[in-house]
Amino acid sequence: MPDITCKHFGTCGGCALLNLSYEEQVAKKRAKLQETLKDFWNGEIPVTVTDEPKHFRNKVELGFCHQVKWREDYDRKDPANKTRPLEFESALGFKLKGRWDRAVDIAECALFNQNLIPLLQSIRAWARAEKLEYYDQRKHTGVLRHLMVREGKNTGEAIVVLFVTDDFNEKTFVQAVEKAMPSAHIMAAVNNGLADTAAPESLRVLKGKDHIFEKIVLTDESGKTVREVTFKLSPQSFFQTNTLTAQKMYSRVRALVKKLAPRRIYDLYGGAGSFSLSCADLCEKSVCVESVAPAVYNGIENAKINGVTNVQFFCAKVEDFVKQQPIEKKDALIILDPPRGGMHPKAAKAVAESGVENVLYISCNPVTLAADLKILTRHYDILHVEAFDFFPHSEHIETFVQLKLK
Ligand SMILES: C[S@@+](CC[C@H](N)C(=O)[O-])C[C@H]1O[C@@H](n2cnc3c(N)ncnc32)[C@H](O)[C@@H]1O
Repeated sequence: MPDITCKHFGTCGGCALLNLSYEEQVAKKRAKLQETLKDFWNGEIPVTVTDEPKHFRNKVELGFCHQVKWREDYDRKDPANKTRPLEFESALGFKLKGRWDRAVDIAECALFNQNLIPLLQSIRAWARAEKLEYYDQRKHTGVLRHLMVREGKNTGEAIVVLFVTDDFNEKTFVQAVEKAMPSAHIMAAVNNGLADTAAPESLRVLKGKDHIFEKIVLTDESGKTVREVTFKLSPQSFFQTNTLTAQKMYSRVRALVKKLAPRRIYDLYGGAGSFSLSCADLCEKSVCVESVAPAVYNGIENAKINGVTNVQFFCAKVEDFVKQQPIEKKDALIILDPPRGGMHPKAAKAVAESGVENVLYISCNPVTLAADLKILTRHYDILHVEAFDFFPHSEHIETFVQLKLK
């Protein structure tokens, strides 16, 4: 039995498991994870759940879609019906399940905070008043493309970014956003690319700042706060979408790092340095390797904001870094947190052969985790596996594996 009901379940691509209670969702994901990792780990895999699985997301990206739909009054079986069966509609929301070119015009949502629906209503009314067309994915016409909303769960700050192909009335847009989210920062981004991603060619501030701050609060095993790390997040910065459960994972990793007491940490696939900054006070030096330059800039800035001076940031692909800069194995620890596609086989082989005593692997995709473990377990034993449910109502789960050199 579901705990949360949503009238869009079944059609909206935003949630796949809302027909189950949260407990059932977690049980289903745990069973699937056990099955995927059965060649490597037979023990029970504990799952840390999201305490409040409603309104947990700190970011959503929604599409404006100009799309065709069947006319409601059209009777397909009536041979006398000569009118056109299709008409156009405008929708703002998540993609329709299994469709790249259609969106659900969402009127309720369990993922983002309560302000989302009034915000969407206000923006739809503004677009109607301004006679602005929603983007047509097939014809590549229209002005309004995407809407991104991001908030700091621990800071309360929020930012709204409108992605467009052309000019629009900025003053009335700001007023429309203010009706639902009076203190949000507001930006506009131009995106004329053909790909359906909220990737800006240019960004400008319409109100407030071009970033928000978010904090992760790190606790020890007794729940006592031991460290807080502040992150400056621009619209493009990568940040885990479930702040409150992610900080439990960062706390868990930190507690283990404290126990292992490495002198040097290799934070591979480091993003803007979340692991390095969470553990900077526990080691002499952390080396953070990340391939996306803006994330590296964010990391350098975040280190300054947090007064951290012992993290060295490298903008490189891990597979290239390990070739050019041999890993110093003495008293080192490797943290791996690759994207959904997993590690490049050359990177996995280099880590497997590094001789570093302890490796922690954090994964958002059990299938690629299993493929990488096949390589890593040639030289490493698995000591522990656990999971964190960062993604309630979806099929996804975050997994954490502790490895030790054989
Ligand atoms: C799952 S994110 C983890 C980020 C970070 N550890 C965190 O907790 O916020 C994976 C990161 O790996 C980066 N990445 C993807 N492929 C990479 C590669 N071949 N080499 C280095 N970094 C890569 C992505 O840009 C992304 O920032």
